[in-house]
Amino acid sequence: MTELTGLDFRPDDAAWYLGDAHAAYRRLRREAPVYWYEPERFWFLSRHADVFAVSKDPEAFCSGKGFRIHDDLRTGGPAGIEGIPPSILGMDPPDHTRYRGLVSRYFTPRAMHRLEERMREITRESLDHVETGKVVDFVELVAVPLPVLVIAELLGVPLEDQRQFKSWSDDLIAANEGDLEAMGRVGELFVYMIGQALDRRSAPRDDLLTVVALGEPNGRLLTDPELGIFAVALLGAGNETTRNAISGGAIALMEHVDQREALTADPSLIPQAVEEIVRWVSPIKSFARTATRDTEIRGQRIAAGDFVVLSYPSANRDEEVYGPTAEQFDVRRSGATPHLGFGVGQHFCLGAHLARLELKVLFEELLARLPRFELAGEIERVRSTLINGVERLPVVFSA
Ligand code: HEM
Repeated sequence: MTELTGLDFRPDDAAWYLGDAHAAYRRLRREAPVYWYEPERFWFLSRHADVFAVSKDPEAFCSGKGFRIHDDLRTGGPAGIEGIPPSILGMDPPDHTRYRGLVSRYFTPRAMHRLEERMREITRESLDHVETGKVVDFVELVAVPLPVLVIAELLGVPLEDQRQFKSWSDDLIAANEGDLEAMGRVGELFVYMIGQALDRRSAPRDDLLTVVALGEPNGRLLTDPELGIFAVALLGAGNETTRNAISGGAIALMEHVDQREALTADPSLIPQAVEEIVRWVSPIKSFARTATRDTEIRGQRIAAGDFVVLSYPSANRDEEVYGPTAEQFDVRRSGATPHLGFGVGQHFCLGAHLARLELKVLFEELLARLPRFELAGEIERVRSTLINGVERLPVVFSA
């Protein structure tokens, strides 16, 4: 087992992530790609090929015993209590396959296309609120509204309740880091979602909550807790991730003005740029698996029961697959090696088409209308082991 000296690496410590983690990832990839982190007893995988292989092998590496660094199943938090059903992210085949089948037809590129006009409307409305020439918070004004309103629309949450979603979604992230008050408020969100789903049983509609409420993935209707978990997982997975891809994308475009100008001059590059943004930002820092049997990764023995953390930001800058330009932000990068920002395998992001379309619409509208913006203060990041989050992004837009 490789010992690394002089490496300040604490992947279980949210504060650690606030610095430049990429310097540490670079060293890990080179010197200890399969790294045992003793304080929390998990393996940390930093290479693209290893993250890929483990994600593609749910038989040897399952999701059902925890899929986050601070997973309740490891820490004894509320979702680890017996009787609380797992979310789709924490399921394995064959249960996982049935659950996923229930909602996957809702997430096809064609189905998502129907939302495009609504996405433009929401984005234009956000941009209407931007004042040029003064410091504004990009996160609040531009990044927050689109993902939360789109997922609320998809689920079928009434308009008057949609604003509440932002704070509930923030609570979900804070609860993941152990914030007890936030956990309490997440309870309200569960109750609310269950109520909404039960309404659909008596009055079905053309929305995702109806599909979940009427579906029978186990040969019976879902129980109330199962309904709540399913709906909350969709909200949690779809909201913060896309929001932070938008904010992270804006940071990348401020740091690489030539790239932003290329996109403004030729908006047909935007879909390609969206892939580069997800690769570059890697909105999810890590998910995890548990080894179901003794096995090996890169010649390193992994014992049955070992927890294995998958680092998407590191995998996405792996020089082994992206070559010498791995650490450059390049909106013209060829998509020859897909990034792992949306994961891969059984749990490949269900909302990838949705997120791609949201990001495309947002950057098209933004660059067409307000193509010049600059950083105007300190970026506040979210303390999380799960997401690469931006809390506040002060910018000034030019007229
Ligand atoms: C840029 C935005 C997004 C990123 C970076 C992202 C990232 C990911 C990743 C890495 C996974 C894999 C989990 C694993 O392997 O354990 C995943 C799964 C998932 N994502 Fe996304 N996601 C994004 C947007 C969305 C959106 C908009 C939705 C909409 C609801 C969504 C819903 C889901 C769901 C339900 C899963 C679990 C799928 C399963 O377990 O089968 N995501 N996402």
